[in-house]
Amino acid sequence: MDAGLDRALRAQLSALAAARRLRTLRPLQSRDDGLHDAGDRLLVDAASNDYLGLSRHPLVMARAAEWAQCHGAGAPASRLVTGTREITLAVEEKLAAFKRCEAALLFSSGFQANATVIPALAAADGSETVLFSDELNHASIVHGCRAARARKEIFRHNDLGHLDDLLRRHAGRKLILTESVFSMDGDRADLPALVQLAERHGAALYVDEAHATGVLGAQGRGLAAECAASGGGADVVMGTLGKALGGFGAYVAGSRTLIDWLVNRCPGFIYTTALPPAVLGAADAALDLVPGMDAERERLLRDAQRLRELLARRNYDTLGSSTQIVPAVIGSEEDALAAARRLEDAGILAVAIRPPTVAAGTSRLRLTLSSRLDDAAMQRLLDAVAACLPART
Ligand SMILES: Cc1ncc(COP(=O)(O)O)c(C=O)c1O
Repeated sequence: MDAGLDRALRAQLSALAAARRLRTLRPLQSRDDGLHDAGDRLLVDAASNDYLGLSRHPLVMARAAEWAQCHGAGAPASRLVTGTREITLAVEEKLAAFKRCEAALLFSSGFQANATVIPALAAADGSETVLFSDELNHASIVHGCRAARARKEIFRHNDLGHLDDLLRRHAGRKLILTESVFSMDGDRADLPALVQLAERHGAALYVDEAHATGVLGAQGRGLAAECAASGGGADVVMGTLGKALGGFGAYVAGSRTLIDWLVNRCPGFIYTTALPPAVLGAADAALDLVPGMDAERERLLRDAQRLRELLARRNYDTLGSSTQIVPAVIGSEEDALAAARRLEDAGILAVAIRPPTVAAGTSRLRLTLSSRLDDAAMQRLLDAVAACLPART
């Protein structure tokens, strides 16, 4: 054991603690009714991404258990080593149809997909690809861009004029990267305009649908599927099986050729163990359920609107949110932490998001809703926000 390593790490951790940026893991048990058991009290969950409550849906849990019983707890190896099970192909087919794409490929997680697919695409034909990435893209996209070792241009958040300018400056292969719903702001990208811009500049478009899948678009298919249905879609649609689908894992959907390329050239697919049957079973059941959950989606978005209106009346900036993710910008890190603590004292689990995840001076509460919150829980949340976030002048 290298004591020198531990010493260096301890010094860094102390510096983080001094800056009040030390992250720690806290025990918390999620319950069937959308509440969290914090040991001494129950908290209404306004922090999770389980937007439709599917992680606790009986069909999702039952199919996960059933597929584990039938097919085993794990996968024997990478899919290129021991072959692909029929259940894996069946889930990929279901995903492709759900996202209105020709084909889909499963990945172990959304982070792994973004971190490894982007470099695999940037290296596609040996010619230089320029990556154009929205400044608010998720850390996994940033990681993928870094790993690509390609030229990068960062465009101002949702500023298509700026993107247009940057695209004009480059010839050759171009890949535009965006989320369809931004994870920390809860606003949307203008996908139809991005599709047009990409076409005009001969660029490919990569869309991360982690927070749109299951919640937005007809039957919860996401925003990229909306575009595809009206003629022109994104070239690469990535999404997760966690969050609204309630399980774990991720996928990339697009043309058959795209998927064939990734099977051949994407290390995060090639050199990793296939998803286990329980995870596939959960995804399979979620995909059966999601298209029929319009009532839950309506409730979710209606509740988000009520929360935004309350925050607006109290003069909190909600950053263009139009989704189930509702930020309340507080400003300083200390004030955001204090607001989260007050909410927790009032029985609400809400996280303070601070730099480096968001820009300095924009620390915020990231309030996320779930259709699983019943009227009483939602009212508790609204009352607590009213009591704990003083009106701003
Ligand atoms: C936009 C976005 N993409 C990707 C991911 C990573 O997904 P996963 O949790 O499956 O690794 C997240 C997770 O928070 C996300 O918000």
